[in-house]
Amino acid sequence: MPIIAPSLLSANFLNLERDVAMLNQSEAEWFHLDVMDGLFVPNISFGFPIIEKIRGATSKILDVHLMIVDPERYIERFRKAGADVISIHAEACKNPVAALQMIRETGAMAGIVINPETPVETLEPYIDHADMVLLMSVHPGFGGQSFIAATFDKIAGLKAMIARHQANVLVEVDGGVDLQNADRLVTAGIDILVAGNTIFASPDPTATILRLKRAG
Ligand code: DX5
Ligand code: ZN
Repeated sequence: MPIIAPSLLSANFLNLERDVAMLNQSEAEWFHLDVMDGLFVPNISFGFPIIEKIRGATSKILDVHLMIVDPERYIERFRKAGADVISIHAEACKNPVAALQMIRETGAMAGIVINPETPVETLEPYIDHADMVLLMSVHPGFGGQSFIAATFDKIAGLKAMIARHQANVLVEVDGGVDLQNADRLVTAGIDILVAGNTIFASPDPTATILRLKRAG
């Protein structure tokens, strides 16, 4: 069964306590937290104060997805704010191997992310230094976009690379995950499904999480 990681970008920020309480009671094991700097992506989301507050309100795994330029500047601070998993974009980083090592040294799990247009071969030098690979299945920056179908080919390529390297990495998909594509994603070997809009815009988010959990 996949790990479900609801993306708090789609939560209600005026009722964050209520949404966190709902997720705490749900089958979701991870919280996905999207940090944007307005440079790497054309949007700005939230930062340390929000993550610290969420850390104080849950014991679930905090999965922090950094869509920021030169993320190594802030790795230590995100760890201190409560991140359990810290993911950096290969496109945003001058030395991804050093950044992944830096993340591991803080005690967090290290994730490497690529955008939809970045070829999966880009990951080859990083796969042995990561605990997780995150494939973006939409252009990063906004929730509620549709899933890019070409992601399935990238998943197949990534799975082959993982097998070649005998790498011990989890695979996460982020963007446009819904009740229609979740089965195929899990069958293709996805370990962690991120979902924002599908969960938070549904009439019964807890039931939707359960349905995603049973995908595959
Ligand atoms: C997009 C973010 C995603 C986003 C996913 O840049 O990385 O995590 O919240 O939202 P949905 O599931 O609505 O596509
Ligand atoms: Zn994300």
